[in-house]
Amino acid sequence: MAIRKILTEPDPFLRQISHDIEKVDDEIRKLMDDMLETMYAAPGIGLAAIQIGLAKRVIVIDLSKEEEKKPLYFVNPKVIIKSKNNCTYEEGCLSVPGQFAEVDRPDECEVNYLDYYGQKKKLKAKGLLATCIQHEMDHLEGILFIDYLSKLKKNYIVKKLSKQKKALERIVV
Ligand code: NI
Repeated sequence: MAIRKILTEPDPFLRQISHDIEKVDDEIRKLMDDMLETMYAAPGIGLAAIQIGLAKRVIVIDLSKEEEKKPLYFVNPKVIIKSKNNCTYEEGCLSVPGQFAEVDRPDECEVNYLDYYGQKKKLKAKGLLATCIQHEMDHLEGILFIDYLSKLKKNYIVKKLSKQKKALERIVV
């Protein structure tokens, strides 16, 4: 397993639409292992492949708070049902470091996907898990949670992140 670099906003690659996976093979499992390790190290509770620079429809999530890890792997996820009721969480994103904002999303969803072994699965999710799945699935469409904020707020965040990035790129030799 290896920790990969996480792309951050504003990076145009994060806006790409990810492609379906044809087959869940060892290469994809290796990608999922790397994504999980990268997510745990960050630390975060969800990560999409596009965030480490691969436009593939692969997501990892782990909401467990205890020592025992409970990773979930989603390949080619498709939401088939969304509830009409919304819930609100204060969201952050490993690709939008240090920024948080409240986002409304359907509070339940049902999703079809392939698991770590390529088996077809269906999951009904509620609350935090439903929000996390929808946040990660947005990444597959090139959408970030800041896209749901007012233009003013979004521009402020993007500007701030651009400045931070420039400061990081500075070198003294
Ligand atoms: Ni995110």
